[in-house]
Amino acid sequence: MGGHAMTIIESRIDTASQDFASNRDRMQAQVDDLLQALAKVQEGGPEAARSKHLARGKLLPRQRIQLLLDKNSSFLELSPLAALDLYDNHVPCAGIITGIGRVQGRDVMVIANDATVKGGTYFPLTIKKHLRAQRIAGENHLPCIYLVDSGGAFLPMQDEVFPDREHFGRIFYQQARLSAMGIPQLAVVLGTCVAGGAYVPAMSDEAIIVRQQGSIFLGGPPLVKAATGEVVDDETLGGGDVHARLSGVVDHLAQDDEHALLLARSAMQHIGRKAKPPLSRQRVKPPRYPAEEIYGLVPENPKVQYDPRELIARLVDDSEFHEFKALFGTTLVCGFAHIDGWPVGILANQGVLFSEAALKGTHFVELCCQRRVPMVFLQNITGFMVGQRYEHEGIAKHGAKLVTAVACAQVPKLTLIVGGSFGAGNYAMAGRAYDPRFLWMWPNARISVMGGEMAASVLAKVKADALKAQGNPWSASDQAYYEETIRSQYEEQGHPFYATARLWDDGVIDPGDSRHYLSLGLAACMNAPIGDSQFGILRM
Ligand code: COA
Repeated sequence: MGGHAMTIIESRIDTASQDFASNRDRMQAQVDDLLQALAKVQEGGPEAARSKHLARGKLLPRQRIQLLLDKNSSFLELSPLAALDLYDNHVPCAGIITGIGRVQGRDVMVIANDATVKGGTYFPLTIKKHLRAQRIAGENHLPCIYLVDSGGAFLPMQDEVFPDREHFGRIFYQQARLSAMGIPQLAVVLGTCVAGGAYVPAMSDEAIIVRQQGSIFLGGPPLVKAATGEVVDDETLGGGDVHARLSGVVDHLAQDDEHALLLARSAMQHIGRKAKPPLSRQRVKPPRYPAEEIYGLVPENPKVQYDPRELIARLVDDSEFHEFKALFGTTLVCGFAHIDGWPVGILANQGVLFSEAALKGTHFVELCCQRRVPMVFLQNITGFMVGQRYEHEGIAKHGAKLVTAVACAQVPKLTLIVGGSFGAGNYAMAGRAYDPRFLWMWPNARISVMGGEMAASVLAKVKADALKAQGNPWSASDQAYYEETIRSQYEEQGHPFYATARLWDDGVIDPGDSRHYLSLGLAACMNAPIGDSQFGILRM
């Protein structure tokens, strides 16, 4: 048995039960929807655009990524469903593929334009996705490799892509800052790289271009003609030969895509020594229960709570969980474990947050920070408890302590939204605004400021009071219609596909792959040192 016997989670789930089977079937259907959506966007742009691209002798962006990465490398793709159902659904993956893979044994961030999607131009969400990838690279010290093939800003939406702080200009700002942090910036120009986009290779530490394919210019031939009357073709204006021989805007000239990617791999061999990971990894043991069983754990009715230890048992090494304060503040389950050999502190919801749970969580966050243990948040939260008794005991200040601790924690935070993500519970459990290094959602999850039912009744009450004060009647059927409108709005906007399309997360994942994603995320985090945490004032 050994000394660990006490901390091995023993599952109490009856995998032969009717409930388990119907839960599993429902989750399977949601995962099928996800896989179908993913398969569709992975094709890239329309067939005609892909054939034209290939006919030019270029590789498709996913083929390029495959050639760039080590043979045995995984690819932790980020937000593949970005822009889903937006922009007339013409911009799969938001026109850019981003993710973490390995080149020469080093974790890198790959940012690849898809020129088959509207010429690889930058829509608002293309920029958001590009910036998110650079942010992840900065937080985790990942070298960036830009596979450039883009017509620059999507001009019809210039007011949403050009002027603001988090718009196009921020891409180059981040390149400068990342380079200053000593994080290598490498550009491979495989197609057009025009206007602002020209700064991607120009701002890189090292740049490669493909002759007769890649071109870099601040203004393309049509613009030059309009501005100065000069008539010049792409290659003469800013092709590979020009930039490798004359201008010095790039450093290496490649014959074709394959050659360029080989040169990029070669450049990666000379970026200097890899930093030592801040934590040591222990021998990996698989969980004692199969990941597939996660499907059957999640109740069909999202309002029904389930024991998060059942999930933890299927995520962590050897299903071993050293639980902290198991008997206190029981709606927040906290404890230490390992995921794929990496130490983690886990915080998981089991019901609404009460004052005790918030205090326990704050204590636990402090422990993780002092011990420099990354935190994993398994978020399934309707919010903090409301009501006179709870307000009087100061639940607002107790909740604030947890929110402060989570906000200030400098250890890597990884958030998995496995159920509801509502109200201030989202903040306390490291929602997007709390800068988790990675945030993923399950396909059954829901995210909104409050549930649709609650929002409908709050808004109906406000409106009914206003109408009454004006002396206007409001019929029961009008009120019912109004409430239904609100409910369906919340249902639509709270769906994980709606969320991921807008980059509120780093992707919707198959619950059965949760351990895999957490493991890849933790491994990525291990490229950067873990700093000291300095907490803000905790209101007592
Ligand atoms: N803004 C908006 N749409 C653009 C665009 C831009 N900057 N650049 C290209 N597109 C669109 C095209 O209208 C076309 O749309 P469609 O598929 O609905 O017809 C699609 O992207 C593909 O462009 P196309 O010209 O057919 O493909 P290509 O591979 O032959 O050439 C470019 C791609 C990017 C080289 C070329 O379109 C180009 O030079 N565009 C202008 C680039 C520019 O000056 N940008 C300035 C940005 S700051």
